[in-house]
Amino acid sequence: MSKKRIGVLTSGGDCPGLNAVIRGVLKASSQLGYDCIGFLKGYEGLYDPVRYITLTHKNTSGILNQGGTILGSTNKGRFAATVGVDDRVEIDPELLEGVKGTLEQLNIAGLVCIGGDGSLAVAQQFHEYGIPVVGVPKTIDNDLSATAFTFGFDSAVECAASALDRLHTTAASHERIMVIELMGRHAGWIALHAGIAGGGDVILLPEIPWTYENVCHKILDRESHGKRFSLVVVAEGAELPQGGLVGQEQNGAQARLGGIGQIVASEIERRLHREVRVSVLGHLQRGGAPTMFDRVLATQYGAHAVRLIEQHKLGEMVCYNPPEIESVPIIKAVNKLRTVERNGSAVQAARALGISFGDCAADASPFAWREEVCEITTSEITTSEEVELDAEFTLDMAEAATEEALLDV
Ligand code: F6P
Repeated sequence: MSKKRIGVLTSGGDCPGLNAVIRGVLKASSQLGYDCIGFLKGYEGLYDPVRYITLTHKNTSGILNQGGTILGSTNKGRFAATVGVDDRVEIDPELLEGVKGTLEQLNIAGLVCIGGDGSLAVAQQFHEYGIPVVGVPKTIDNDLSATAFTFGFDSAVECAASALDRLHTTAASHERIMVIELMGRHAGWIALHAGIAGGGDVILLPEIPWTYENVCHKILDRESHGKRFSLVVVAEGAELPQGGLVGQEQNGAQARLGGIGQIVASEIERRLHREVRVSVLGHLQRGGAPTMFDRVLATQYGAHAVRLIEQHKLGEMVCYNPPEIESVPIIKAVNKLRTVERNGSAVQAARALGISFGDCAADASPFAWREEVCEITTSEITTSEEVELDAEFTLDMAEAATEEALLDV
């Protein structure tokens, strides 16, 4: 019989640090005497046709700092185990049997599945079927429960905060209001951290209901203090005040979010009669080299995943419980999102600095949101063209603030 092997695959949307995990898996497994193979295009490479490469020190050399994944990836495909959050789609038993057969034939002791919520839900079904798997949590959104950090998040924040730094200087020079739309489907961690690190003035998140009045109030409040530019950070998954998400429905799959930045910008422009510009960072947040933090985290995850296989702790996912790398059953990590707490310490710190979350007036106490909670109940997808905006804001307020600002300067 051939030498025991460890398999690895990358599934779902890519993010910086995937290659660092692959390298960590290869190096740690060869230290323990395993051969290592990488399946191509995520779960697709496991069956019909089976597609893999033998990983070696040579073909993994120099990939630590490379974005993307040398193994390729597939989002959903034949192995989808979820459509949205809180649901379960049963994987075709023929596929499961096929995968089991592949791993047995290749003498694989354990398969390292690197992925986000949806991909780990597949790993969980593999585990239930008796396929030897361990999970590694990946997503720029950082929204997986059971781990303090997924790798890729820090790199996305670095990219978004650097973009805010750049917007800051041009916004200040032209006295413009700048809206930046960032990724973050269910959770606003990227917008929250980048907004704080990049000096945002307003941060709009999926977790915190907001109003245009409060957003405009914050901008005017800044103007009344002589700051005639503002940076508004909005997560793509933030709900509109009238309810609903902005994006495009996809047949049988999760909607493709995007477009809320333009809607927010147009409405601010209409209410304040000020020039507003929009930037959408999109997939730039998912590309490029991983930060040093993500390289260290991804490397530790890869090495720990191999240790789990060696200790026969199958069905577990590696996780970061600072300062230690530990593991939890995969089932504990899937379908339970880790979202931003409205009263969490980062939000409280931001409020203490005067950053608005659009949920209370700019001159209100940092705790005013407790009384001013808006009800948002729907989460339908709306395309940007369909949005009808309501005009309640009085221009008097804008003019008064502008006059005040001029007097102040
Ligand atoms: O889950 C990570 C993420 O980047 C989300 O922030 C975003 O909504 C989604 O993936 C985009 O996925 P895709 O590249 O498949 O459109």
